[in-house]
Amino acid sequence: MTTSDLAEELELCLHQSETIPGWTRGEEARELLRISHSLAAGAIIVEIGSFFGAGTILLAGPRRIRGSGVVHCVDPFDGTGDSFSVPHYQRILAKFSSGSLRDHFERNIHSAGLGPWVRIHQGRADEVARSWTTPIDLLYLDGDQSRKGVRAASCSTSTSRRRASMSSTISIITPTPTPPIWCRHGASRRSPVPI
Ligand SMILES: C[S@@+](CC[C@H](N)C(=O)[O-])C[C@H]1O[C@@H](n2cnc3c(N)ncnc32)[C@H](O)[C@@H]1O
Repeated sequence: MTTSDLAEELELCLHQSETIPGWTRGEEARELLRISHSLAAGAIIVEIGSFFGAGTILLAGPRRIRGSGVVHCVDPFDGTGDSFSVPHYQRILAKFSSGSLRDHFERNIHSAGLGPWVRIHQGRADEVARSWTTPIDLLYLDGDQSRKGVRAASCSTSTSRRRASMSSTISIITPTPTPPIWCRHGASRRSPVPI
């Protein structure tokens, strides 16, 4: 694939993601695309907090381009979470009267042609982590946005990270009043950007 073909494919992923209600936009979205694409063959990516799948597309799209790897999506798919974020989730969900959040997620992933690159684990991070054994190359923390929630998700998955360092973890804070514990992107607050 030429450089311009690759750029075009990544732009398509970006566009597909932007058509879905979500939080990961702009430079942050491009960085997710870049990081996912840079991982080695067979990369195991875990996204904690998937919502409608906007971030999932940014992680799974580059793996489709690379031809290997999988994105494991951990989310209760019920719009629950930290107290600051739940009203934002509910406000967005209220606009979609029919179908569950999981239905919407699955439809979005299917429409983007990414079904084979995505596995769903319905539940909270701490619940799913209890029986998790697969080594993780990249952990994208975007679930419970409270300081306590980020720490809990990180700790519960720490033994599975292939490289036991923060460099394999991206922690993104969404519209919470507290700053992130760590954040590679420097963003301390984000607003949901629904379509
Ligand atoms: C900010 S949204 C995710 C946004 C998505 N990653 C994106 O890029 O648009 C957070 C999601 O995480 C879910 N969530 C909240 N607490 C969680 C937890 N403890 N474990 C997993 N998911 C959680 C929420 O219900 C919601 O669906």
